[in-house]
Amino acid sequence: MESYVRIFDTTLRDGEQSPGATMTSAEKLELARALARLGVDVIEAGFPAASPDDLEAVRRIAVEVGNAADGGRAPIICGLARASQNDIEKAWQAVRYAARPRIHTFLATSPIHMEYKLKMSPEEVVSRVKDMVALATSLCQDVEFSPEDAGRSDPEFLYRVLEEAIKSGATTLNIPDTVGYTIPEEFNKLISGIIQNTPGIDKCIVSVHCHNDLGLATANTLAGIAAGARQAEVTINGIGERAGNTSLEEVVMALETRKPIFGLHTGIDTTQIVRLSKMVSNYTGIVVQPNKAIVGANAFAHEAGIHQDGMLKHQQTYEIMRPEMVGASHTKLVLGKHSGRNALKNRMQDLGYNLSVEELDKLFARFKLLADKKKTITDADLEALVSDELYQPREIFTLDGLQVACGTMGMPTATVRLRGPDGELHVKAAVGTGPVDAVYKAIDLVIDAPAILTEFSIHAITEGIDALGEVTVRIAGSDGEHVLHAMQEVESPRSYGGYGADTDIIVASAKAYLSALNKLLVASGKFDEVVSEPVAA
Ligand code: KIV
Ligand code: ZN
Repeated sequence: MESYVRIFDTTLRDGEQSPGATMTSAEKLELARALARLGVDVIEAGFPAASPDDLEAVRRIAVEVGNAADGGRAPIICGLARASQNDIEKAWQAVRYAARPRIHTFLATSPIHMEYKLKMSPEEVVSRVKDMVALATSLCQDVEFSPEDAGRSDPEFLYRVLEEAIKSGATTLNIPDTVGYTIPEEFNKLISGIIQNTPGIDKCIVSVHCHNDLGLATANTLAGIAAGARQAEVTINGIGERAGNTSLEEVVMALETRKPIFGLHTGIDTTQIVRLSKMVSNYTGIVVQPNKAIVGANAFAHEAGIHQDGMLKHQQTYEIMRPEMVGASHTKLVLGKHSGRNALKNRMQDLGYNLSVEELDKLFARFKLLADKKKTITDADLEALVSDELYQPREIFTLDGLQVACGTMGMPTATVRLRGPDGELHVKAAVGTGPVDAVYKAIDLVIDAPAILTEFSIHAITEGIDALGEVTVRIAGSDGEHVLHAMQEVESPRSYGGYGADTDIIVASAKAYLSALNKLLVASGKFDEVVSEPVAA
């Protein structure tokens, strides 16, 4: 059996389905580019039938990321479709511009889903799978089929459904534990059983897709791989429906760190993992828990004296991976006040960013401002500046000035000056329970967008009193709206994440709030995002 495990990233599809993880189309495109650089084999770019915006976002990714400019190999670009003609045709409309397009179609096979959700008999399910996989293969050579809720399906029935999918031309068979119900031994047996009992499966790639409801997604995925699956469906930081999906970083680093046990490898450049993790957290507003494996802030921190003592004597006493293997090392004293534009350009290239002249100009201006306030500028600082300066949503309102009075002697008061969409300035002042509250109230007086602040988190990027502060917020639009998730249409308020970084944490807080509000304004349709026409492949 081959030793290569394909990494299928679904951060932009299953990940984006996590409550509040909505990303703008510009962010999706940027993330897809970063995933391609990371070396994922397949990018599930979205669910094109969900809305015209989703279709357009997948199409742009197919055009711009699915065709390698330098003659290299671009990742497969995949679109999700329910087993219906409309969904499959929409998925094809979106992915066909990629050099290697894939349609991923699914239909539930568990008794509970067939009876209550689909209201279809098992025979009807088999016949729908046959017809819809055949339709997908008539459009696209590369078709993946998933029997949704396979973890709770009858294995004998699965063998039958999968056999029909293979006969209709499916090339990848993905086995989802949709509700995160199975345990590793059971999932291993399920995959082995499928491989042994499904006629024609030797011509296909078997894939695994696990959810984390019992905290077992990574363990189940590894158990599936041990049984012979050669594609793992994952998301960065493990974001996804409910408790999330299997996290990319955990599976990849388990295979890497325990190579002698698995004897398997992936195409992932592990040194980019932390960068991707930060990017996803900044774009979605979903903060990574500090003790999260591989990418949490404490993943390589040693606090206990006995551990620190051991580490000083030999690094491997308490470290099974080197932080630099995942890009978590904080190189000190990278650049400073006297570093020039070229030094910044070279450092950014080393970090994997190929910036345009305008991007470099913008970043250099921010870098100089920061260097005036902070003696040493680390890689982590540079990453924060990139997120804050370059990877922001379209700016409808920008922060032009901010003044705060606070402390024990009076009422926290903030005055903000915002530049609006036509370049006009708006000045408002407000009193709050603290300086951030006062700033947010003043911003609300300028921008009349019905939103509730649901999350606010702040942390220092590096140690030291002059550190950059990083703020992540999430806001929820107060109007409920119908959102079509992969599984069903639901009424839910959309929420938006925002990110800001500055040496002044009140300024960082204002920027984060504005960035989330700008996303909400763009989504409201009042201010359409500027989307350039894709170039035909
Ligand atoms: O969890 C699931 O079943 C899915 C399918 C669409 C593969 O996400
Ligand atoms: Zn899923």
